[in-house]
Amino acid sequence: MSAWRSWSRRCLPTSDPLAAFRLDGRTALITGPVRGIGLAIAHLFAGAGARLVLADIDVAACDALAEELGGISIPTDVGDAAAIARLAEQAETQAGGVDILVCNAGIAGQASPLHTMDEAERERLYAINLLHPLRLTGHIAPAMAARGRGSIVLLSSIAGLRGNAMLGHYGMTKAALAQLARNLAVEWGPSGVRANAIAPGLIETDWAGAILSSPERAARRLGMTPLRRAGSPDEVAATALYLASDAGGFTTGQTIVVDGGTLISDGS
Ligand SMILES: NC(=O)c1ccc[n+]([C@@H]2O[C@H](COP(=O)([O-])OP(=O)(O)OC[C@H]3O[C@@H](n4cnc5c(N)ncnc54)[C@H](O)[C@@H]3O)[C@@H](O)[C@H]2O)c1
Repeated sequence: MSAWRSWSRRCLPTSDPLAAFRLDGRTALITGPVRGIGLAIAHLFAGAGARLVLADIDVAACDALAEELGGISIPTDVGDAAAIARLAEQAETQAGGVDILVCNAGIAGQASPLHTMDEAERERLYAINLLHPLRLTGHIAPAMAARGRGSIVLLSSIAGLRGNAMLGHYGMTKAALAQLARNLAVEWGPSGVRANAIAPGLIETDWAGAILSSPERAARRLGMTPLRRAGSPDEVAATALYLASDAGGFTTGQTIVVDGGTLISDGS
């Protein structure tokens, strides 16, 4: 057997193929973990063996989830720069550093054409959806690089991959996250840090409730999706686990679309 072949076999142990998805001994910091997609990621990562650091604006729910899953709760408003700096510092001191960072917290903001959105609301949307991942990765990526490994996962959206008349600012923040993943991947890849984004389509969370609770809107929206259903938070979490773990060890700078085929369909 050639040297190349023996090396590649060591990377993918066929005796235990799922071992590459385990997160034992790793610390994962997740923002927005108390509901929806973040909650599914927290449960899946805990099940895969990760130690969790949970950062949500809902203090009571964040504390309760940390108690339930055995992690550390650092309640944080991710729209606040000082709070982000505190979160990064406490994650370092209380958890001994972060191996996996999932920037999941996000808001849709008020639905409106670009030019009519209230300015204060627009600032808040950009602070939570875009500046939070930018600031948090700015603190965490250098520490990951110093340790020689790390994986960053950003929650983008298919709203950042096509135009939208009513959620334009939301889409711009999500498009920027796909670029942030590429930039981080190039900047920190030589130090062993990977960065990727996930672009979900319609996922069954409170977020999607307004669409799914109206039969007409649900039929119209799901008619654009080849699988004819919304996704589950668990299906997004599974992609996050792939990206966070060694299974995704050679994947970096990518935006993985998890949308039941919505984006590749012409709707017919
Ligand atoms: N659900 C979907 O259909 C969908 C589709 C595409 C992208 N996404 C993205 O996935 C991510 C999660 O979406 P979701 O549907 O699970 O949302 P959700 O509203 O169900 O949950 C959001 C979580 O973030 C927390 N949060 C909100 N503002 C915060 C703040 N300022 N500081 C800290 N925590 C805060 C909430 O408390 C909650 O735990 C978001 O970034 C969203 O843009 C969702």
